Amino acid sequence: LNAVAKQHRKLYFGTATNNEEFTNDTAYLNVIKDSRMFGQLTAANSMKWENTEPSPGQFTFADADQFVRFAQRNGQILRGHNCVWHQQLPDWVLDGTFTESEILAAVERHCGTLLEYSINDALNASEDSWDVVNEVINDDGTFRQDVFFNTSGTKYIAAAFRAARAADPHAKLYANDFNIEGPGPKVTAYHNLIKTLKKEGVPIDGIGIQAHLIVGQLPSNITENLESFTKLGVEVALTELDIRMTLPSTPQLLAQQKKDYETVISACNAVKGCVGVTVWDFTDKYSWVPGTFTGEGDACPWDDNLQKKPAFFGIIDGF
Ligand code: XIL
Repeated sequence: LNAVAKQHRKLYFGTATNNEEFTNDTAYLNVIKDSRMFGQLTAANSMKWENTEPSPGQFTFADADQFVRFAQRNGQILRGHNCVWHQQLPDWVLDGTFTESEILAAVERHCGTLLEYSINDALNASEDSWDVVNEVINDDGTFRQDVFFNTSGTKYIAAAFRAARAADPHAKLYANDFNIEGPGPKVTAYHNLIKTLKKEGVPIDGIGIQAHLIVGQLPSNITENLESFTKLGVEVALTELDIRMTLPSTPQLLAQQKKDYETVISACNAVKGCVGVTVWDFTDKYSWVPGTFTGEGDACPWDDNLQKKPAFFGIIDGF
């Protein structure tokens, strides 16, 4: 898929993964290690705050190291995921009491250390991207009321981007979120955030559009929506693509899923500032969907047995 993505434009195609998957499962390993299939990897969990800074100032990169080395060996570029997110936080952040300057200092130390880590250790550091902030806006367009916002307002967002840029001048710095594939209050809020950050000289380079979608329920104007971001001077990437269905799957649903994958991929392909696509794992065997959305699943382009589904061919058709 990466070879096909590279053919017309310099797009990448990648996948999220967990260390246990490529270390314990040979059939899985044989698919993921091929950079002609996946030119980019995202750690689904290994770089999250709870795993990298479990206590204040104590950084542990054992899992991240294993992931980075794996990508290096395969010649795959990286997406760092993520610096600041309201989930998978260690208790000291989640339950802590902070003053504004304390939370900003914690955010700066965390983001700065992660980006310093990735610039020193990752292959092709200049091509890497980072989800610096993840899911900071609610579906209604208001800011998410998490520990960071409740303590600092929106100051933590600028602080995270500035610390990331100071640590790594080359990585592309992103805000990443779901439900921004089509227009609505959340997209408008992101447009406003981009404008504000740019006006203040905050280094934001891209918007990550997660694209956790539902079969038969795609927004109708994904291409125009991607363009609405690139017009503001940022690049876009589809960062966590999967297209789930209510189980059990049927041949009709799988055929619709193929079409939907093609639609999403061709939208990125059509937009000059869309740099690539990442699926949130490539096989239903390890998808996060069944564990999160009761009764739903089969969201990936490979099935539970590592066999290609119609969706795989939809991706090829989209490029
Ligand atoms: C998910 C992982 O895939 C799961 O293994 C974990 O238990 C929870 O997080 N949006 C994101 C990702 O930005 O970090 C989430 O990943 C999926 C939703």
